[in-house]
Amino acid sequence: MQKRTVIQAAVAAALLAASGLGLAQDNKFKIGLILPMTGPFASTGKQVEAAARLYMAQNGDTVAGKKVELIVKDDASTPDVTKRIAQELVVNEKVNVLAGFGLTPLALATAPIATQSKTPLVVMAAATSSITQASPYIVRTSFTLPQVSVAIADWAPKNGIKKVVTLVTDYGPGIDAEKYFKERLQFNGGQVVESLRVPLRNPDFAPFLQKVRDDKPDAVFTFVPSGAGAALMKQFAERGLDKAGIKLIGTGDVTDDDILNSMGDVALGVVTSHHYSAAHNSPANKKFVEAFMKANNNLRPNFMAVGGYDGMRLIYEALKKTRGAGGGDALLAAMKGQIFESPRGPIYIDAQTRDVVQNVYIRKVEKKDGQLYNVEFDTIKDVKDPGKSK
Ligand code: PHB
Repeated sequence: MQKRTVIQAAVAAALLAASGLGLAQDNKFKIGLILPMTGPFASTGKQVEAAARLYMAQNGDTVAGKKVELIVKDDASTPDVTKRIAQELVVNEKVNVLAGFGLTPLALATAPIATQSKTPLVVMAAATSSITQASPYIVRTSFTLPQVSVAIADWAPKNGIKKVVTLVTDYGPGIDAEKYFKERLQFNGGQVVESLRVPLRNPDFAPFLQKVRDDKPDAVFTFVPSGAGAALMKQFAERGLDKAGIKLIGTGDVTDDDILNSMGDVALGVVTSHHYSAAHNSPANKKFVEAFMKANNNLRPNFMAVGGYDGMRLIYEALKKTRGAGGGDALLAAMKGQIFESPRGPIYIDAQTRDVVQNVYIRKVEKKDGQLYNVEFDTIKDVKDPGKSK
């Protein structure tokens, strides 16, 4: 116990020393990008890294006279590993910014490193509301589950969906989605008759979907993390829920652009709410999707890619503003309050909460030129994270 305390104190001292040294560095500006590059969430790592590299290819690697260096590390979505890598990046590499974070537990595990070393930590993917409260050095460019879950709970009862079963992955973002969807649906006169939670690791959706079928709701509302949607959709069809007249609704994570096309026609007509669709109709997005696909063997960018792309922009603009002076605190201050046009639409970083404020879209899966897309048909403008007002 005592030994542990001594080690922790030594690590804290090293981190703090490293934060001071960061200032005295040469002409490099280092971004430590920690992502799941292997394992079940590797698609998130691939999307975020590809987007970060695209941003650099389009905007050059010299900013305010500094040479920007991207150091990509694989944490295989294991929180202890993420934290250890972050510590090494701060102490040995003297990175100026930590970025990435594919899952909530990975961001939460690393938050103390950001605080102790005064290093800005840009969350490009993870989406539990509370993450930004885990360190004053955390800034987010992805989204939050409360932010996107409320919109579909407003849409559903106006469209004949009153009785709902929720089915979410059993950890931070799933619990946020379940809570905010349920509260809002009930406020709107609907009812959640059962709340089911499936494990994060190796989920088997079949027994849960059987329960949904037995409950005979109008719809099942779901949140599953990016990558897990195809298995859920397959089981949904195999269990005959669609034939039984049960609709599937959810946050847009389930109809993730990365895998939507591989789901087949069972996904047609699924309505979700989210902050990004590859089909978002704007010149900025058309340009982004085209360039991303061209650089990545026709891979379609998903919402994770946009979080990575915008995160790089946030970092570049902060570096421009500070001209590389002032260390972590100055960079952080320059990130707060940034406003810009993202491929997803207009966004800004709330200076108080350090969280992203953005439009939320209601979308329906449709076929366009033989391909499945989330086609946006309604917009709720400038949505703040409702999780912050509680
Ligand atoms: C998260 O772990 O915060 C997370 C991961 C994947 C998603 C959304 C949230 O699609």
